[in-house]
Amino acid sequence: MCGIAGYVGPKGAESILTVALERLKYRGYDSAGLCIVNDGDLLLRRAAGRLRELEHELADHPISGNCGIAHTRWATHGAPTSENAHPHKDGDNTVAVVHNGIIENHEQLRRALEADGAVFNSDTDTEVIPHLLARAYQGDPVAAVREILPKLEGSYAFAAVFADQPGRIVAARHGSPLLLGRGKGESLIASDIPALLPHAHEYCPMEDGWVVDCTGQRIVVCSADGTPVEAEFKPIEVEITEVSMGDYDSFMAKEIAEQPEILQRLLDSRLRNGDLVEPDLGIDLKTINHVVFLACGTSWHAAMLGKRFLEHYARVHVEVDISSEYRYRNPVASGDTLVVPISQSGETADTLAGLRLARSMFMPVVSLVNVMDSTIARESDGVLPLMAGPEIGVASTKAYTAQIMALYLFALQVARAKGRLDQERLNAAILALKAIPEQVTETLALCEEVVEHTADLFAPASASVFLGRGGEHVTALEGALKLKEIAYVFATGYAAGEFKHGPIALVTQHLPLVCLCPRDAMHDKMLSNIQEVRARSGRVVGVGAPDDQALADLCDFVFPVVQPQEELLQPLLTILPLQRYAYHVARKRDCDVDQPRNLAKSVTVE
Ligand code: G6P
Repeated sequence: MCGIAGYVGPKGAESILTVALERLKYRGYDSAGLCIVNDGDLLLRRAAGRLRELEHELADHPISGNCGIAHTRWATHGAPTSENAHPHKDGDNTVAVVHNGIIENHEQLRRALEADGAVFNSDTDTEVIPHLLARAYQGDPVAAVREILPKLEGSYAFAAVFADQPGRIVAARHGSPLLLGRGKGESLIASDIPALLPHAHEYCPMEDGWVVDCTGQRIVVCSADGTPVEAEFKPIEVEITEVSMGDYDSFMAKEIAEQPEILQRLLDSRLRNGDLVEPDLGIDLKTINHVVFLACGTSWHAAMLGKRFLEHYARVHVEVDISSEYRYRNPVASGDTLVVPISQSGETADTLAGLRLARSMFMPVVSLVNVMDSTIARESDGVLPLMAGPEIGVASTKAYTAQIMALYLFALQVARAKGRLDQERLNAAILALKAIPEQVTETLALCEEVVEHTADLFAPASASVFLGRGGEHVTALEGALKLKEIAYVFATGYAAGEFKHGPIALVTQHLPLVCLCPRDAMHDKMLSNIQEVRARSGRVVGVGAPDDQALADLCDFVFPVVQPQEELLQPLLTILPLQRYAYHVARKRDCDVDQPRNLAKSVTVE
């Protein structure tokens, strides 16, 4: 939620920061800005709207210099206007600041600052920071930052540049992510690794409480009380191609297509000589009788499938909780409960808060994350990596299927630890898993034509319903979420058996219904549900086996999907045509699939 970046070194900061913002825009994209320190001045350019508006502003009013900070915003306090866009400065042009997070006591601070003569130019919570810094500043930027930190409540990662300190960026972190990057004679900061590329070769995630002083030649870290801290830098392993769109028209299209390769990579890391590789999770899984999944959005849907896998193989009790609900309940803690946060970014604020609550009650935590340097990964006892590579499209696709596979492997691991998985069932599960990457490739190819054609036809529809049972109920929820997120179609997913208890009243000839009906244990029940819809003139798109004549006879269209060898894995394949369907409907409706309105990929505020 909001992306920040900073550069200091021999090169032109303006162009480096513009590219960094491009790579961070998935974190927010309703306005953007940057500030360059040049000749004792703070040169500011900001614009409301997408990044291209800032680029136009920079083309019309160029600025240059070797040190600067930049920001791409997802509005929390104040509308997405150019006045509210970051960076923000104090009235005397002493300091400029970019910030990610929320300063919760900003109103109180603002009143005190106004009483002291400060004039505010925005509605943001952030603007208190430059005013506080300017008042604390006596020539030492680090001292000024350290002095104001105790006054700030809430979460932040912020970076500041001072007009009389060319070639220097100071940053602090508490609760929001920030990485340091080191190159040859140049230093960078950014909310995420892709924005450090290609200039930084090494990186180090900042810890809460760190204050950092960067020049091109050195990065010096201390704690809030001034104690020196030794920052450990690691080589950056992300390739530039992983964060580029290549020949695709969007990151979403690229990420959907990458799924076979990613799933293969995940499997290769977890299977050896026909057996399961069991990562050390820092806890004794044998003692676990109860699992609580915590997640938001698409990750929450994956968690619902995780429940099915664990119940099936490990026979443990499983709860699936929305992180923002869990954190404000008074959950029961027990010694045999394992808490499992699931998060692509590893930074989602509610999931992190849920994790911290669980830890405060002494429950062990094993997380499933894609970004291994994330806060959630770092604060867990054990981590199961998704290995999906950077996911940039706001709608999660490849991370979702990786989550499904990782959860399935996790269920096998727990089942084995508890002595509930015999070799025969394990062998069958491994065989089924091994076939998945190829089946994903096949399904994507098989369904494309009819998916695109159906999307053409139904793109104007303003609402849509998705129905499924069992694991396919989860696919219905996820398929509906994809359509809402990127095509702005009001879409809702229902457990098909529940549909007649009210929502069936919505059915008319204008309502497209997507009915998930693969050949699983629920197949015949689903066919009956489809009959009920047809009897009321609904337009039905079936998702099921290519040779299912009974399904084809009932539906206007069928999205064909391959049947996996293990029924529990079917949702990993049925979601594929729905990802492509949402993509095509969005494109027909002229929506920006990678940057849907109002959203951000990484929700680091509450
Ligand atoms: C945001 C994104 C969703 C994502 C959710 C959870 O809402 O737009 O795509 O599923 O956050 O994110 P996480 O990184 O925790 O999986």
